[in-house]
Amino acid sequence: MPPFFFEDSMSDLAMIVSSARSEFEGCADAAALENAKARYLGKTGALTELLKGLGRLSAAERPAAGAAINVAKKELEAALNARRAAIAEANLTQQLAADALDVSLPGRGRGMGTLHPLSRTLERVETLFHSLGFAVADGPEIEDDFHNFTALNTPENHPARSMQDTFYVEGGMVLRTHTSPIQVRYMETHAPPIKIIAPGRVYRVDSDATHSPMFHQVEGLWIDRDVSFADLKATIGEFLRRFFERDDLQVRFRPSFFPFTEPSAEIDMAFGDGGWLEIAGSGQVHPNVLRAVGIDPEQYQGFAFGVGPDRLAMLRYGVNDLRLFYENDLRFLRQFA
Ligand code: DAH
Repeated sequence: MPPFFFEDSMSDLAMIVSSARSEFEGCADAAALENAKARYLGKTGALTELLKGLGRLSAAERPAAGAAINVAKKELEAALNARRAAIAEANLTQQLAADALDVSLPGRGRGMGTLHPLSRTLERVETLFHSLGFAVADGPEIEDDFHNFTALNTPENHPARSMQDTFYVEGGMVLRTHTSPIQVRYMETHAPPIKIIAPGRVYRVDSDATHSPMFHQVEGLWIDRDVSFADLKATIGEFLRRFFERDDLQVRFRPSFFPFTEPSAEIDMAFGDGGWLEIAGSGQVHPNVLRAVGIDPEQYQGFAFGVGPDRLAMLRYGVNDLRLFYENDLRFLRQFA
């Protein structure tokens, strides 16, 4: 045993302590720190090796050397714990910063959705007709020729077909040009008395301030034994007074032609400066339409109408261009919320 062993061990000890301290300081996370700990205090760690060497010292040297190593060990454990706490603290600070919430910022509101003015109008039309005893019916937007035209007393080559600029799609089908085919579909499956409205989208090759290629119609149909033109006038008048919430409406029935009604009338409302806006077609259902669906025109009769709810919305809200309803400009739409 060389006599200088103890002196060498003591300078080793000082080096071990200082390099352990700086290694611990340099550890950025808990895993690195535990690895560093193992290099000094682990089973084969540098400090542990020194402790093992104590046995080779003389009995006189051993107590002082042992005490010095123990002091170093305590120091390293303290340094280790301090570093552990610092790492935990840093993690917490980082976590808090990441989760930080600036409660002084203005809130991020989620806009409340509202119904489109045309949807509101359709709902209103349905509610009002419901209160007049009409049920609601529905039908397909891609329609066959029979329901869109033929059954409505408009056979092929009938000049009235050119009244409607039709979108034809594949397979001889059409985008329905009006909601009138729903009358046919309903009468095919229901026996009179029939009292329905049928709201929906319809399509025509047409576009200007009062026409859009896609627009809405609400069909009406009332068939019973003695439903007359007077009932038509009363029903439409009552509906319009309720819709516009006024009794002094200027409404006129103007004689017209539709293949599926006889007599036929267009219904206009005062609009703008002394002008009129057509809001509906109407009339007594033509006997040929009843025959096409197997209803005996000697037993049953009634009226039908097709009203344009988009036009009703224009009148109710004072909008002068129908296309505004379809542009989805929120500055326009918000005004109806
Ligand atoms: N379907 C017609 C159109 O779109 C409107 C219409 C007229 C519907 C008379 C009817 C009616 O039910 O009886 O121009």
